[in-house]
Amino acid sequence: MGVPWHVLAAVLAVTLVITSTVSSSAAEMRKLPEGLKLGVATASFQIEGGWNAADKSPSIWDIYTHMPGKIKDGTDGNDTCKSYEFYQRDIQMLKFLGVDFYRFSISWPRVLPTGFADKISEDGIGYYSRLVDELLANGIEPVVTLYHWDLPQSLQDLGGWANPLIADWFEDYARVLYDALGDRVKTWITLNEPKQFIIYGYGMERFAPNIVSAGIGDYIAVKNALMAHAKAWHLYDKEYREKQKGTCGITIATDFREGLSDTPEDVELGRMVMDFEAGFYSHPIFSSTGGFPERMIKRIAEKSAEQGFPRSRLPELSQEEIDFIKGTSDFYGFNHYSTKFYTADGYTKGMYPIPSYEDDIGAVSSYKDYPPAPIIHATKIPNGIRKALNWVKDNYNNPTVLITENGYGNYGGVDDPERIDYYKAYLDAVLDAIEVDGCNVTTYTAWSLMDNFEWDSGLGAKFGLFEVDFDDEQRTRKAKLSALWYKDFIAQRSLDPDYLPQFEENKF
Ligand code: BGC
Repeated sequence: MGVPWHVLAAVLAVTLVITSTVSSSAAEMRKLPEGLKLGVATASFQIEGGWNAADKSPSIWDIYTHMPGKIKDGTDGNDTCKSYEFYQRDIQMLKFLGVDFYRFSISWPRVLPTGFADKISEDGIGYYSRLVDELLANGIEPVVTLYHWDLPQSLQDLGGWANPLIADWFEDYARVLYDALGDRVKTWITLNEPKQFIIYGYGMERFAPNIVSAGIGDYIAVKNALMAHAKAWHLYDKEYREKQKGTCGITIATDFREGLSDTPEDVELGRMVMDFEAGFYSHPIFSSTGGFPERMIKRIAEKSAEQGFPRSRLPELSQEEIDFIKGTSDFYGFNHYSTKFYTADGYTKGMYPIPSYEDDIGAVSSYKDYPPAPIIHATKIPNGIRKALNWVKDNYNNPTVLITENGYGNYGGVDDPERIDYYKAYLDAVLDAIEVDGCNVTTYTAWSLMDNFEWDSGLGAKFGLFEVDFDDEQRTRKAKLSALWYKDFIAQRSLDPDYLPQFEENKF
């Protein structure tokens, strides 16, 4: 009893049409994986203001921003968004968005005005304690960064990150916070982006503390920062983990770097630059062998010898130090903004100071022909976030990844469809990394909740989902179009490439 062939063909055709409609609409609307948490981030110096409130002492960024000519638009961080005063409005904004968590950082000199743990500021610790309580009362999980670049100036006077004793000072500071907040905070991030605060701060004039010891002091500071992170993690692991039941890790800027072309030279160069960019910090912690990446050890040793140094400018890690640092992160905190392409063609001696981090890399970089974003380091290259997530997965045995920052910067206002485009494209690539490639991503964090003090670019550069009126004493905040979009994305827990919200007037 056969079914006539033309009936079969018709059934097959209908089935094909249905299947293709289903799969193409599924490709359009992407449901988020079960359990993926969504949040937003800020950092203390960028939003708090209150730079000399109560007994707070100056941080290196207070001192730096007060030096004439350092910040591109001449602004400073004295008041910024005034979150030290208006934090309850920040919580209202977080509730409006519907986030699962809020990543913020703690100002070391606000909590420990001498820099040391001899005296804990009641005002300082009280502020963070209230913030944590009110977040929890509103169903928002606090994710806390211990260090997002605002070192007490008193410690910088002793050398800051270039002094190996900072590992002990940081451990003491971490203990104060685990004791004060660890009953309620379950995710701790020790350091945010060691590359940015060290290479730009100890090797270039770009960031505080404005120490220019290129290719020497910056490399020493990297070793000390890794030791400081490891001490804070071991402390948590030994003395707090069991009673507080939280996790502790580090956040590393994992922008992607690759060769400009497919030639074996460029491909290998791309791998080396990725080591300079991220592996410098991640290899010692996340690799199975520990220590600095071999490519860097070799390159810096060769260059140092050529330059007449009797030893490599890259400090050695003893076997004991390697073992102490290895394995000290419960997750890989991953920040990502864009991708750059490298080639040694056209690199000439003297393009960068000798010695320096850039001269050690010895290559020229570009964003290829991708249209440059107004703030260049957020140029939209979505495939790069997928490649960077795979780089973490392939090199470090697929660790749990918390995307702790991703976002777009411009100089515009509340009508910001280009920021929405960036988020949609990057989130789509993140979903590919999770669903197609098997990367173990558990959270996604948009940078930033609101416009804030964008380091050397000042208040003029805008990364926020909310606009802040910096001319208004009250620092009124308004949800941008992108905030309305993120709110809907969180509520739907799916990515709709076509959705653009209607703008509604609002104020916080
Ligand atoms: C930093 C943030 C900064 C953002 C945008 C990251 O490197 O952690 O503090 O605002 O990039 O530039």
